[in-house]
Amino acid sequence: MGIEAATVHETFTKMQAKLSKVVPEVELRLKAELVYEINRLKKERGALILGHNYMEPALFHTVPDIVGDSLELSRRAAETECDPIIFCGVRFMAETAKILNPSKTVLLPAKVAGCSLASSISAKDVRDLKAKYPGVPVVSYINTYADVKAESDIICTSGNAVRVVQSLTSDRVIFLPDQYLAANVARETGKQILFPRPDDASPQGNVMIGWRGACEVHERFTVEDITNIRTQFPGVAVLAHPECPPEVVAASDFSQSTSRMVEFVRSSTSPHFLLLTECSMADNIIAENPDKDVLRLCSIRCPHMNEITLEDTLNALRNNEQQIDVPADIAARARVALERMLAA
Ligand code: 13P
Ligand code: SF4
Repeated sequence: MGIEAATVHETFTKMQAKLSKVVPEVELRLKAELVYEINRLKKERGALILGHNYMEPALFHTVPDIVGDSLELSRRAAETECDPIIFCGVRFMAETAKILNPSKTVLLPAKVAGCSLASSISAKDVRDLKAKYPGVPVVSYINTYADVKAESDIICTSGNAVRVVQSLTSDRVIFLPDQYLAANVARETGKQILFPRPDDASPQGNVMIGWRGACEVHERFTVEDITNIRTQFPGVAVLAHPECPPEVVAASDFSQSTSRMVEFVRSSTSPHFLLLTECSMADNIIAENPDKDVLRLCSIRCPHMNEITLEDTLNALRNNEQQIDVPADIAARARVALERMLAA
């Protein structure tokens, strides 16, 4: 066995030790060579790989230097001195990294990697809302594209949305574009959520004006799913991401960002856990906590997060693909809204 074959074998052995409960051995054998090459090239280029919690387990547990939720990854992207930054997540996340650290090359290992929330609203939609409700601050979810961020006053993530809304002095807030996250945050901040029709009078009082965007993954979970699982697995702790409909969040035991969900499972002694979110995350938790019984409803995958593969991560490192660019004027305005969030 040559030196390279020996080190690929070592990579495979490490992957097997961590992942054998969630990834078939034959797949690990095929992916070990990619993992080895990515890590070698990453070191050679002085690159940083960021990985969102939704990455598939054979990627998530092997190549990122930092893993986390949108908020944690934004902070780390803003701070790093490494160049390039490879963002194993979706496009709006890679754009956020570029906006926060503009001198660095940011690469997304996929051609598209969209998001149903980010594509549900345009910059013009935000301008129209601002014209209709002058002076009402606009809070946009990080799951939006740069031009929408540029029209916003402040950005939030699932991990800090309540804090960001509470940081504003105005009673009225426009919250975009996730109707369910808006409804969940409105409940937690004591606001009334409204979706005004074009002819409605301007809402007054302690209100949140929402938009009808939704996550194509989280919108599909139902209270009936939770009831069925509670019957089948007594004592199960149900964790619902705040992009789930409000009745689903109300029927769950815990609702926070993906990283806080990971921490909950780590530290809880519940006999079973049900994760209502993208199911790769459950595989990632099981790989790290093999003694925990983690259930998931895996009929729905995020097609955008699943575009990111080890093959394309290697391609990004080798060929500088796909490079993220944000026009300077848009980036400058979006950065103000993002920096307000980081300071909130
Ligand atoms: P988090 O910020 O909680 O990781 O969520 C990102 C996301 O896209 C959830 O669908
Ligand atoms: Fe967007 Fe939903 Fe996929 Fe998250 S899970 S990236 S919100 S489509």
